[in-house]
Amino acid sequence: MRFFHATCTLGLEAVLADELTALNALHVQPDRGGVRFQGDLELALRAVLWVRSASRITERLFRNKPAHDPESLYESVRGFDWRGVTTPDLTVAVQAKISQSNKDPRLFGRIVKDALCDAMRDLHGARPDVEVASPDLPLRLVVQRGRATLVRDLVGQSLHRRGWRDAQHKSPLNEAIAAGLLLHTGWDRRSPLVDPMGGSGTFVVEAAHLATDRAPGVDLRPAALSWPGVDPAVWDRLVEEARDRHAAGRASCPPLLMADVHGGAVGLAERSIRAAGVEDLVAVRHTAVSALPLEHPPALVVANPPWGQRIGTEDHAASWRDLGTFLKTQCGGAVAWVLSGSPELTAAMRLKASRRHPVQVGPIDCRWIRYEIVGRGQGAPGEQPWWVG
Ligand SMILES: C[S@@+](CC[C@H](N)C(=O)[O-])C[C@H]1O[C@@H](n2cnc3c(N)ncnc32)[C@H](O)[C@@H]1O
Repeated sequence: MRFFHATCTLGLEAVLADELTALNALHVQPDRGGVRFQGDLELALRAVLWVRSASRITERLFRNKPAHDPESLYESVRGFDWRGVTTPDLTVAVQAKISQSNKDPRLFGRIVKDALCDAMRDLHGARPDVEVASPDLPLRLVVQRGRATLVRDLVGQSLHRRGWRDAQHKSPLNEAIAAGLLLHTGWDRRSPLVDPMGGSGTFVVEAAHLATDRAPGVDLRPAALSWPGVDPAVWDRLVEEARDRHAAGRASCPPLLMADVHGGAVGLAERSIRAAGVEDLVAVRHTAVSALPLEHPPALVVANPPWGQRIGTEDHAASWRDLGTFLKTQCGGAVAWVLSGSPELTAAMRLKASRRHPVQVGPIDCRWIRYEIVGRGQGAPGEQPWWVG
């Protein structure tokens, strides 16, 4: 059995744990900012392919080994049994993090690399090269209170980079966080969704991929495919299965709509939506929320309105007021989830929240807030919603 860890933003641990459990991961245990799980390498590759809310998946090589100084760290790494883990022809890079200490992480990273090279020379008579940008073996070292944990990253880049975003909006919501927030709403993936302040389109693209069963990792080429004991054909088979599932899933996408008042954002969103291959599934409107026409009340509204810290200093209260009015007048019967980094601006919506979930977005402690919108548009009890049948 192998020990893995998937990393996510603070607040999405439970969502990520559910995703891993659904993939039949074993001993799934959320911790702060991630989830530990066990399984074999095929399970880990499946997680790389399918898990939406994680930013990284790593396999533990060792933990709790002495590292109170460079010499003890060197001995810990050199003494590790590297057989079956790597070979001299695989390039390597080491990222090191030293908690609560003024020790130089780069020095500790170099020690790991030197000890690995010496261990390889002992075993194989040759040493691996360093390749910082895209190593075959991306190692990550964490030293806490003089004890070291060493892991290898299955991919070597953040999983939020799905490959569909070619340009960055001024305040983009990272793809893994957007997907995690969508999963947190419990959206059934069958009922209509609207994002009236969609920016560069992160929510609607992730929603389209969720609804059509498109695996977020299909365009990745994990570093793990070059590791000993990993057959790249396994990955190719998993990707092929994923492509088949997506081809079938495309037949059943509910109406998805995004709008934004800013022409530049709409342009970026349209580019992302095209690159993500969902332009036939997502409608885009260039309009303020106050003028957004809706043919039908949506079932789920998600929104990430602007707040000061991320976009600038202008007063955003009017946008929040208009969002509140839109929800009350056009979205009766819907559930709305709004991402807020500012309690004052949230209050401008004049709506009563039914739940507030803490989530970290970049450096900001945010709330993902749920509103049940009552009023116009609600059908009679027992009546089928408009999008069914
Ligand atoms: C924080 S950004 C959204 C980022 C988006 N979640 C993304 O992933 O790119 C907020 C967006 O709200 C838009 N916005 C602000 N006021 C608006 C209004 N009254 N009507 C529609 N959009 C508005 C801004 O143009 C901006 O793109």
